[in-house]
Amino acid sequence: MEQKDVYILAIESSCDETAAAVVKNGREVLSNVISSQIALHTLYGGVVPEIASRKHIEKINQVIEQALEEAKVTFDNIDAIAVTYGPGLVGALLVGVSAAKALSFALKKPLIGVHHIEGHISANYIENKELKPPFICLVVSGGHSHLVKVKDYGEYEILGRTRDDAAGEAFDKVARAIGLGYPGGPKIDKVSREGNPDAIRFPRAKVGESEYDFSFSGLKSAVLNYLNSCQMKGEEVNQADVAASFQKAVVDVLVDHSVNAVKKYGFSTFAIAGGVASNSHLREALEVACKENGIDFYHPSPVYCTDNAAMIGVAAYYEYIKGVRHGYDLNAVPNLKLGERI
Ligand code: KG4
Ligand code: ZN
Repeated sequence: MEQKDVYILAIESSCDETAAAVVKNGREVLSNVISSQIALHTLYGGVVPEIASRKHIEKINQVIEQALEEAKVTFDNIDAIAVTYGPGLVGALLVGVSAAKALSFALKKPLIGVHHIEGHISANYIENKELKPPFICLVVSGGHSHLVKVKDYGEYEILGRTRDDAAGEAFDKVARAIGLGYPGGPKIDKVSREGNPDAIRFPRAKVGESEYDFSFSGLKSAVLNYLNSCQMKGEEVNQADVAASFQKAVVDVLVDHSVNAVKKYGFSTFAIAGGVASNSHLREALEVACKENGIDFYHPSPVYCTDNAAMIGVAAYYEYIKGVRHGYDLNAVPNLKLGERI
């Protein structure tokens, strides 16, 4: 018997993007609308949670309407409403969760709450139709740095995590320190092209006996110390060299841990996810390392690396076909753990 197509309307509002998307059968993105608040938060040098929530409220209905319009569907065609319910900023998450619950109730359509990081990982399924679990995934975003074993759809085991700052957080803090401003990642990525990555030897942190954990706060302090010492000696700082050298230190550790984990666990498939996964130097370095080690390397396009709702629709599809449904008591969970089901 032919299977009926499944259309999911997905909503994402965990940080500073208000996003909605329509995804067909888990892998086909019919629309992916993102209203970014970056320009607004740039004024303050980072995301201001209260402002983020207010802006989400202003934009959410517009973004949902546009997602349906661009997908050329109506609410009647939608089989389920999916929404990110954690982790993230509580006030920001609540806007998406409330909108999704209201739609689910009014339209009598099932509601599916999605873990934001599971969404990031699932972004890999959009353009890589042949990719299926199991594989190892490096998740590097503004709030998370995880090495994850993706055992099956919706089944994860964390192999390593950051002990302090997330990779994206380190990019943002260093960018601020060298005067590049917010958001730091893309700016460091760009300016590094003109710098020498071997100009300054910043530390590559090892975390005790835990082979796959990360630590980036020592690296951030090393950059700050370097800047201070230049200032004290009256030496001029070469912004591009600092950016490139910092970035190389991050990329070296991410590549090293990833390749070791893939080999140790006997995998041949590896993927990356999250905002930092759009970093061009990281992608190039992983491309080379994976080739050398006979590992198939997958990554989403940059638009699916940073926050978007299409990835939430993809993750929701695999929950939907397993029969997962949430009630109207679904709440925002700002510190939701990966693999945790509430
Ligand atoms: O996944 P994401 O959009 O939001 C979170 O879930 O956190 O990630 C945002 C993070 C920010 O820290 C941003 O600076 C970083 O991803 N980022 C990058 C790049 N593009 C975004 N970091 C390095 N290089 C990039 N090209
Ligand atoms: Zn994210």
